[in-house]
Amino acid sequence: MSVSPQTVAVFGAGYVGLVTGACFADLGHRVVVRDVLADRVEVLRRGEVPIFEPGLDSLIARNTDRLSFTTDVGEAIEGADFVYIAVGTPPTYSGDADLSAVWTVIDELPQIERSTVVVMKSTVPVGTGSRVRHRLDERGLQHVGYVSNPEFTAEGTALRDFMHPDRIVIGSFRDEDGDAVEALHAGIEAPVVRCDVASGEMIKLAANAALMTRISFINEIANVCEATGADVVRVAEGIGLDRRIGPAFLRAGIGFGGSCFPKDSLALKQLAANSGYHFQLLNAVIEVNELQKRRVIGKLHSHLGSLRGATVALLGLAFKPNTDDMREAPSLVLAGRLVAEGADVRAWDPVVEGADLFGVEIASSPEAAAAGADAVVLVTEWPELADVDWKAVAATMRNALLIDGRNMLDPAALRAAGFTVEGIGRAASVSEG
Ligand SMILES: NC(=O)c1ccc[n+]([C@@H]2O[C@H](COP(=O)([O-])OP(=O)(O)OC[C@H]3O[C@@H](n4cnc5c(N)ncnc54)[C@H](O)[C@@H]3O)[C@@H](O)[C@H]2O)c1
Repeated sequence: MSVSPQTVAVFGAGYVGLVTGACFADLGHRVVVRDVLADRVEVLRRGEVPIFEPGLDSLIARNTDRLSFTTDVGEAIEGADFVYIAVGTPPTYSGDADLSAVWTVIDELPQIERSTVVVMKSTVPVGTGSRVRHRLDERGLQHVGYVSNPEFTAEGTALRDFMHPDRIVIGSFRDEDGDAVEALHAGIEAPVVRCDVASGEMIKLAANAALMTRISFINEIANVCEATGADVVRVAEGIGLDRRIGPAFLRAGIGFGGSCFPKDSLALKQLAANSGYHFQLLNAVIEVNELQKRRVIGKLHSHLGSLRGATVALLGLAFKPNTDDMREAPSLVLAGRLVAEGADVRAWDPVVEGADLFGVEIASSPEAAAAGADAVVLVTEWPELADVDWKAVAATMRNALLIDGRNMLDPAALRAAGFTVEGIGRAASVSEG
């Protein structure tokens, strides 16, 4: 399908809005990204990118003639065929999704005369589209279409995920609005799932819940492996080769974090509860994840006894590699617990800068973080950690203990380097050593 250039306004210059805007520009469309943060827009206008997402800076740079940034709603909406909403939907105190930014966008829309389509990229509870439709109608914007087009990109691989998605989901009230959004994606080869708006909203929540369930499942298997003498890495390999199961999302570790899974699981739990349904499985998935983040503390206790006065180095702060996103990162829980137990905590991360981590000292390298420490905890599987000279690191530590929270490193090699090693769910690899 050849691209017919459209004009797209994107509301929200965060992880999703910037990726969406840059990718649509790269597909040949004219894109204006609008944010309420004047500093952020200023930075973008100078050609800098305010978030860390591999490849995004060069994608924006090579599309400057089709991609602009503004704080002004009128400027963004002028001539827009599509209004993408990519604002944040963080959790409220009750765990429900906070849709205030979404409503602000809807209420700020001027009296559009042309047949624009409002497209929801933000992750929202099922039923949001119906309510937005109602609000648009009340405002005399019946001719403005509404489509749910949820985002499945993962931070760190967002550009590839956007351009080569597993599927594009388009939920619409009117077929012609869905057709228009489908045509906007011309140039992207992927199966398209066309459905009603409520199903589009639910696909996003259910996909996240399925992925989280797999993570908590393998983490519980890991915990049973530890108690019974098996190695979860071999177990995951063995079950992942079953075509009915598959290998993805079967890496045991210290639990999921990030800007999506924790808040979306809470939002789905509350959505179900508000509708009178107790979602038992999802509740268990959330609880398993909370406990999993704390298991490292138990491992440190079993080796070091009291942590008061012990020095612990956390390697990696971002919730996963290739992002600077710290939202709900397991490192926050770990750092908080360690500080509460009286440990001296040092941390290193290659991209997270100046994180306010309860007074944790930030080191310039993994080696500097570990020097003189009683334990190192590998929190985020940054590729850089594979290249560390662990033998040299062990020699500088007061006590060469390494807890590999992501099962990233080879335990036998670490033991040969002088470490006492613990992974997650790797009892067999310890007893063999
Ligand atoms: N981060 C991800 O990888 C990811 C993946 C899939 C879905 N999502 C969903 O996408 C949505 C956005 O997530 P994000 O991580 O990009 O959030 P973000 O916090 O990085 O960015 C949101 C941006 O919206 C801006 N904003 C707030 N109100 C605005 C308004 N009225 N007009 C214009 N801009 C406004 C904020 O200033 C901020 O820059 C969320 O619903 C999230 O759940 C995120």
